[in-house]
Amino acid sequence: MTVDLRTQSLNAYYGKHMAVRDITINFEKNAITALIGPSGCGKSTLLRCLNRMHEVIANTRVEGQVVLDGENLYDPGVDPTALRRRIGMVFQRANPFPTMTIKENVVAGVRLAGEVTQRSALDAIAEKSLRQAALWDEVKDKLNQSGTSLSGGQQQRLCIARALAVEPEVLLMDEPASALDPISTMKIEELMRDLKKTYTIVIVTHNMQQAARCSDYTGFMLAGEATPGELVEFGDSSSIFTTPKDPRTEDYITGRFG
Ligand SMILES: Nc1ncnc2c1ncn2[C@@H]1O[C@H](COP(=O)(O)OP(=O)(O)O)[C@@H](O)[C@H]1O
Ligand SMILES: [Mg+2]
Repeated sequence: MTVDLRTQSLNAYYGKHMAVRDITINFEKNAITALIGPSGCGKSTLLRCLNRMHEVIANTRVEGQVVLDGENLYDPGVDPTALRRRIGMVFQRANPFPTMTIKENVVAGVRLAGEVTQRSALDAIAEKSLRQAALWDEVKDKLNQSGTSLSGGQQQRLCIARALAVEPEVLLMDEPASALDPISTMKIEELMRDLKKTYTIVIVTHNMQQAARCSDYTGFMLAGEATPGELVEFGDSSSIFTTPKDPRTEDYITGRFG
């Protein structure tokens, strides 16, 4: 289950406002790529362009390409719902469906897709996904309790399980640990390192220690006062965090701004 994901000269707009400009990135398979940069530089916007969630917001527009296995996801024939099953997403705030149990939350996307309906098959998918998300042992005895009864860190892993249940190829994570305590954060990071064996992962984080600890590649983005977010530097994380080439990257990672 490995795919080629890359962007080519990607621009994204909110109305007339250009939020990111000319982004060309290759996301390495079975690796974690971190997108870092100060608030407002366009990290979340870029991430949402990767699975066409940007266009869900009114008056938005994208130029350029996102290419998955040779196919431009913005080609007219592409079904956004189908592609979002291939490129799953986890958000900053854990958002389990409040009226659903833990188990129902995990299989919600699978049921929506309608391909699996048998109860025993859905149970098996729930278990497999919860195991993958390193949550099974904590919830196996209370699968019928509400998803919102879990702790914040557990809820975030529940959302990861829900994203994994539809068997995506790419996992997009927008600051998945920013609302969590240090122990939950560590669990999410461990989980990501484990998941990259199977998935290609793109994570947005404003936590540079986190990017340095768990990503293989890092892209540093920056926007000016009146200019859109751009990719200043991209490379393997060890180089970006030890020997950045661009002085702006160095200023950022050493905490001089942002
Ligand atoms: N829903 C929106 N409507 C209008 N502008 C937005 C919206 N979301 C983000 N923006 C603008 O796009 C730019 C990039 O924002 P964002 O992608 O959220 O940055 P980051 O995730 O790096 O903090 C900012 O100028 C922000 O104000
Ligand atoms: Mg953001």
